[in-house]
Amino acid sequence: MKLIVDKAARLAELAAGQYTALLSNKPAAVLGFATGSTPLGLYAVLCRLHREGKLSFREATSFNLDEYVGLAPTHEQSYKYFMMQNLFSQIDLPLERAHVPSGMDVSAETLAGYDRAIAAAGGIDLQLLGIGNNGHIGFNEPGTPFESLTHVVRLTESTRQANARFFDSIDQVPTQAATMGIRTVMNARSLLLIALGRAKAEIIRAALTGPVTPEVPASVIQLHPDCTVYCDEEAAALL
Ligand code: PGA
Repeated sequence: MKLIVDKAARLAELAAGQYTALLSNKPAAVLGFATGSTPLGLYAVLCRLHREGKLSFREATSFNLDEYVGLAPTHEQSYKYFMMQNLFSQIDLPLERAHVPSGMDVSAETLAGYDRAIAAAGGIDLQLLGIGNNGHIGFNEPGTPFESLTHVVRLTESTRQANARFFDSIDQVPTQAATMGIRTVMNARSLLLIALGRAKAEIIRAALTGPVTPEVPASVIQLHPDCTVYCDEEAAALL
């Protein structure tokens, strides 16, 4: 695992460099995207590089980690909407190849179809991850088996509380989500995890230096052969 500690703005530039390097070598790369506050700086840099003509996603394919169950793509708090606002509408990735799990159809067939579509696209080259305060990656909450594929999860109270800031009240935060599983994430050829802020310091220490255990889902990245972790100084404070 490679650890990079720097200021958030610099981390966004460095992480964006992984995209420019990958897409210049492999224009048809398969990208795994994430939502939340953490990737916003990176997405802003990717959009800028695209505007400047330095980065094209024209031949790429993407798969997002997760989506709330019950929110349609047009719902302002859906992750599809988030991706449209913050990335897809500003780059040249063809929308028919920009995949986000369905929050409306979570049948076993559709969930299994997400993993099949990833495999059919050739597998994910670079998977972006944030980390939840409880160590979740995607919405794989503590206790999720490492062998899990795309599935529906019940969100923990701590995750719902953490995400309530985006909704009018906690009652509106969905109770379930569809998420890539831990095996789905670990199958990616490279992982890129970003953690920002003091609130992530304890969980970053547990994930990077503690035991590899389903109780800290992000600890599984210690087992990945090609993983880069980008932390700002606050998130790295306890390392
Ligand atoms: P955040 O969420 O980027 O909003 O902190 C991270 C996560 O829950 O994975």
